[in-house]
Order: sequence, then structure tokens, then C-alpha cells
Amino acid sequence: MRLHILSIFPKLFENFFSVSLIGKAVEKKIIEVEITDIRQFAEAPHYHVDDYPYGGGPGMIMKPEPLSAAIKYAKQRLPNARVILLSASGQKMTQQRAQELARETELLLICGRYEGVDQRVIDLYVDEELSIGDVIMMGGEVPAMALIESVCRLLPDVIGNSDSLTEESFSQRGDGLTLLEWPQYTRPEVFNGREVPEVLLSGDHGRIRAWRLEQALNKTLITRPDLIKKPC
Ligand SMILES: C[S@@+](CC[C@H](N)C(=O)[O-])C[C@H]1O[C@@H](n2cnc3c(N)ncnc32)[C@H](O)[C@@H]1O
Repeated sequence: MRLHILSIFPKLFENFFSVSLIGKAVEKKIIEVEITDIRQFAEAPHYHVDDYPYGGGPGMIMKPEPLSAAIKYAKQRLPNARVILLSASGQKMTQQRAQELARETELLLICGRYEGVDQRVIDLYVDEELSIGDVIMMGGEVPAMALIESVCRLLPDVIGNSDSLTEESFSQRGDGLTLLEWPQYTRPEVFNGREVPEVLLSGDHGRIRAWRLEQALNKTLITRPDLIKKPC
């Protein structure tokens, strides 16, 4: 998958793309990344990328000219890219959307800053606005990283054990339920006086499966009852 990111703070991505599984995916060329500084398309001598909002109000808005020039440049590099603006007012990102985006070959991610982006740029160039949740971040860079992690971990050979991708929160189960993950434990058997549940040490895989399903159902009912849907 080819990624192109537009940001006024490209440095924020330096570590992100060089460590952990994302770093390995870059090394293995499973993902190819280009990051463009929107400011390089702003006018000298001041290189402003923001301006005051028409109609008044607090904060600044990303100016259309540098951002649209940066988008045009990125679209020349990735002609088939789906153009996504990270935006608090976009559709909420979900595991299902991550799975769909993992089937794209090229993504162009636009990171907003200030109070956001001039609407005309959105109308002209953006295919989709995505939010990482009902919360306001300072900019689109961290939301873009969240999107990239959620999508790239689904690409073949990024995660060592692909079973991890089917047995986790939000994954679609064979029985049609969408559940959160059950509680997980590792060694030691006793930690600060707390023991690992006996069933997990039993070696009885039928009992372990039943216990995990019960725990997952309980957790989902308590913290995310909206996820419990009737099987189709
Ligand atoms: C301070 S925010 C602007 C918030 C905007 N004034 C609003 O009320 O929706 C600056 C930038 O951060 C990014 N951003 C903030 N929250 C986000 C979220 N929940 N999901 C995705 N991007 C977000 C967007 O790119 C946005 O343009």
C-alpha cells in the first residue's frame, strides 16, 4: 500500500514510521510512505498556511491555496489515492472501515490544524472525512497515525500471527456477534496475590472457549452494549 501524508508538522511522523511493526512494514516495503510539508506550497516570504475565518470567531483556518497545491502534488504521485481528511466532524473510524481501507492500494491522508480546513478544499478534493472519535485533537497527525495503524496491521505479513486479527475486539465472529475481547493473562500464575483464573490453566480447550465467550459477553454488555447485535 502506498501512503502520502500532508501535514504542516511532518517531523511528527519520523519515529512513527521507523519503529515497531509499522517500521518493519516500511522496511519490508509492505507500505511505502511519502510525507509532504504543506508549508512548502505556501507563498514566500512568510509561508503562511492559515488565515482568519470569514464571519469572525476564534482561531485560524487552513488557507485553501497551499493545501490544494499540496493535494494536487500528492495526487500526481498517487493518482489512484482515496483522499481522506482527518476531521472531528467526519464519520467515526471503525474496524469495518479499517478493513475496507486495507483493500485500497493508495491513500492520501490530510492532517488538519488550527480550527480546520477551508470548506472549498474539502468540497473539491476530499473523498471522505474520518474521525478517530468524539474528541478534539490539536491536529490530524495523531489521528492519521491511528488510522494508519488500524489499516496497516490488516495488510498481509504485517502481523506475525494472523489469528490475532480474527480473535480480537470488534472482529466479526462466526456466530455473528461483535464482542470486546476477553481478559488476558500471562505469567506469573500469581501476581500481587492475584491468581490467573483456574480454567486457563486446565488445558481443557472447550472450557476455555466457553469461559472466554462468557467473559467477552459480560464485558461487552457492561462497557459497549451497543455492539451486541442479534445474529443475522
Ligand atoms: C483543533 S482541531 C479542529 C477542530 C474543529 N474546529 C472542530 O470543531 O471540529 C484541528 C485538526 O485536528 C484534527 N482532528 C481533531 N480532532 C480529530 C478527530 N477526533 N479525528 C480526526 N481528526 C481530528 C483535524 O484534522 C482538525 O482539522
